[in-house]
Amino acid sequence: MARTILVTGGAGFIGSNFVLRRIAAGDRVVNLDKLTYAGNLGNLASVKHNPAHIFVQGGIEDAELVRSLFQLHHPDAVVNFAAESHVDRSIASPEEFIFTNVVGTFRLLHESLDYYRALPAELQARFRFLHVSTDEVYGSLSKTGPAFVESKAYEPNSPYSASKASSDHLVRAYQHTYGLPVLTTNCSNNYGPYQFPEKLIPLVILNALNGKPLPIYGDGLNVRDWLYVGDHCEAIALVLEKGIPGETYNVGGDSEKANIDVVTTICSIMDEVHPQGAPHNRLITFVKDRPGHDRRYAVDASKLKRELGWLQQETFTTGIRRTVEWYLANSSWIQEVTSGDYRKWIAANYEARGAK
Ligand code: NAD
Ligand code: TYD
Repeated sequence: MARTILVTGGAGFIGSNFVLRRIAAGDRVVNLDKLTYAGNLGNLASVKHNPAHIFVQGGIEDAELVRSLFQLHHPDAVVNFAAESHVDRSIASPEEFIFTNVVGTFRLLHESLDYYRALPAELQARFRFLHVSTDEVYGSLSKTGPAFVESKAYEPNSPYSASKASSDHLVRAYQHTYGLPVLTTNCSNNYGPYQFPEKLIPLVILNALNGKPLPIYGDGLNVRDWLYVGDHCEAIALVLEKGIPGETYNVGGDSEKANIDVVTTICSIMDEVHPQGAPHNRLITFVKDRPGHDRRYAVDASKLKRELGWLQQETFTTGIRRTVEWYLANSSWIQEVTSGDYRKWIAANYEARGAK
């Protein structure tokens, strides 16, 4: 059945992919996004004139605005993507992370609860608050440690992951104390179209395209589990539809890779599809490590597969090729996002690291 979903952060990377998919599936989306540096209406150009997409610029911390959106649009669900999401920025300036990820999520939860309480019983039975979180809340794994399961204790190490852990705890408390029907998903590193090029994969694709250094932190052996964004969006839709309120679901790509392997894979694809700069791996540059850099993440998504029947459609091999091809085919999107503030961040982050 078609629903009205209040999506927060729907102009960001994962949020915009989710919005485009839900609209294509027949849902109506009210998209609340503050349009920080990471938010981009260009991601949503194809639904700009679609009446099923209602865009509102504003913050999740603005309780009055959130209340007015509930009253005006009567959503059946809230999906909370809105966050400050980049670990390196959280190290450089943590305060915004606490404000949006903790205070913002708290205010959104509280407004959701007020709205939920006033709903008639049959609409209460349908209502869900889905919070999109990260595997980073679980901490760092050793080389051979078992992948994160949902019952793993939280051990966040960066200001980013600590702020996400705090928001996850608030979400849990709103179910336990007040009975708000919440769902939490903890996913691994996403990649795919519309990812802002401050994160490893799009940064490396763009730098390779422009003949710039490909910066690898530390020894390049930190491991991440890569999840194609489309697979993640389908997992969220499934959890929203079939998940049991109060439960958390891990979402992972079953694609653990060391950073150096991710970068060399991108280089080989670039050699093929953009031979002008080949061999691109000559651009690899080891730079000063990230402080507190988590060594390894790996996600065990068997609960989601077993209980809700989710399965990834993309392997890393197919997903990374699609991603490189998307960036190569979307040069005007790239130009739009790499102007102004982006350049300042790149200068601040990488000039300080220097070459090792
Ligand atoms: P992103 O940084 O690309 O987008 C975040 C969006 O939130 C932007 O559009 C921004 O404008 C908006 N926003 C920021 N502060 C806001 C506020 N106060 N009110 C309203 N909107 C605000 O992030 P993403 O990569 O799309 O991540 C989405 C969610 O998924 C985040 O909660 C993140 O923690 C989580 N997550 C991301 C990854 C990943 O690999 N990208 C992995 C695990 C979890
Ligand atoms: P990132 O995309 O920032 O995601 P996260 O820190 O949330 O995992 O980084 C992915 C991995 O790549 C992480 O181990 C840090 C590393 N990395 C680099 O080596 N160089 C870079 O320029 C960036 C941005 C990240």
